[in-house]
Amino acid sequence: MTRHIGFNLFEMNTVGHISHGLWVHPANTRHRFNDLEFWVEQAKLLEAGLFDSVFLADVIGTYDGYRNGPETALREAVQIPSNDPLLVIPAMAAVTKHLAFAATFSTTYEPPFAFARRASTLDHLTKGRFGWNVVTSYLPNAARNFGLADEIAHDDRYGIADEYLDVLYKLWEGSWDDDAVIQDRDSRVYTDPAKVRCINHVGPNFQVAGPHLSQPSAQRTPVIFQAGSSDRGRAFAAKHAEGVFVGGRDLDVYRENIADIRRQAALLGRKPEHIKTYASAVILVGRDQDDAERKAATYRELSSAEGYLAHAGGSGIDLAAYPKNALIRDILAAEAKAGRDNEQTGRRFYTDTTTVGQALDAVTRFDRGPFYAAGAPVQVADAIEGWVDATGLDGFNLRQFLTPGTAEDFIEYVVPELQRRGLYRTAYAESTFRERLFGTGNTRLFEEHHGARYRGGANLDGAGSGADAATISHFEEKAS
Ligand SMILES: Cc1cc2nc3c(=O)[nH]c(=O)nc-3n(C[C@H](O)[C@H](O)[C@H](O)COP(=O)(O)O)c2cc1C
Repeated sequence: MTRHIGFNLFEMNTVGHISHGLWVHPANTRHRFNDLEFWVEQAKLLEAGLFDSVFLADVIGTYDGYRNGPETALREAVQIPSNDPLLVIPAMAAVTKHLAFAATFSTTYEPPFAFARRASTLDHLTKGRFGWNVVTSYLPNAARNFGLADEIAHDDRYGIADEYLDVLYKLWEGSWDDDAVIQDRDSRVYTDPAKVRCINHVGPNFQVAGPHLSQPSAQRTPVIFQAGSSDRGRAFAAKHAEGVFVGGRDLDVYRENIADIRRQAALLGRKPEHIKTYASAVILVGRDQDDAERKAATYRELSSAEGYLAHAGGSGIDLAAYPKNALIRDILAAEAKAGRDNEQTGRRFYTDTTTVGQALDAVTRFDRGPFYAAGAPVQVADAIEGWVDATGLDGFNLRQFLTPGTAEDFIEYVVPELQRRGLYRTAYAESTFRERLFGTGNTRLFEEHHGARYRGGANLDGAGSGADAATISHFEEKAS
């Protein structure tokens, strides 16, 4: 049987997610993101286009690294203003039956108990169509929003995340039996107390008594997505993730990274095929090549270098203040002479011979990644098929330039062509998100997944995340 390629729409409850500057395009409706109707319309469109899911990114701070303040991010609408991603899901679920919803939530700043309930609520309201993109958050401003002076160190954030997930698995998988709720009117028993248990988690970061407040939802544990690219991030993905966003410079590196995550997962006793892999795709399609190129040219013209620089955390240099032919090297030297040391940050973005004009051009370029295709439907479908063949990827997050234009174009032009090739579904077959990824009947976590160890109340010994320490040292040993 030919494999269907999965497509998620890459979204965020904000104006400018990753295509900065395009909010000014007259056909772009991103400014309506505060309206429920915006999300309802998106959901209906995506379900008509047989998408896997809408994938909602999120950050919980602002990008204030560029020019030492949030002004550029604010002016350019770089992920601010932004709203909570979880709260638009029920509205979208109400007007769809199959579309799934993956939302980002950070493990670093809010303790796990409340999130466990929010996720269960969403899995109930969507009838098993909820997924969670686990992030540890990278913005220093986020730390300051949650009472910390600065960010927690990168690897420590993953340590917290590991325990966080353990708490959640205990609540989602172990706290309630499937038959705990009996709703017996005659005996006046709603829930059989013998089938619900406290988790009594005691670990280095969290102490959670339980029981979980929600009864078991269709999937119990939402489908876990993750996008870590560091050693710790990949080890985390291998242990927890069912869907992974893979990174890489080119198709070969993607293939290697996918193999590495699958290899690490196998070391943990998981089946490699129980991890689906995704990449972000930039697809500009039109009636024909010219139509697509025209779109690309318009987006290029409207892209905001300032917005991208703010998003990138700031080069430390105000590029717009210099002539286009000035060399970054000379600017950095002059800045250093004036006592402003931008060497470190500047070096992240430029080589010695980069000019200001080239740097500004480069930051707005959306056509450089390995998953860029612009053209007529047949060409785009060829490219997508080629990417999958070369890498083994399972699917893509479609990057938006215009809302709803990007998704509309994809549905009108690309979907029928992929369907003709047997690479895209022609109808939804499954009902829960996990079934969509792994086939009918696979609504719950696989037996080999770390989270399944708490089923039926097993391993709720209050020992915290002892198994995690073993996992961590295992990978640390391998890395050294
Ligand atoms: C496709 C994709 C989506 C991501 N979405 C978010 C997000 O919404 N919020 C966030 O804080 N980080 C997000 N990240 C960042 C990752 O969570 C992660 O921090 C990053 O890839 C670096 O990996 P590391 O944490 O292992 O260093 C995303 C990354 C990728 C590749």
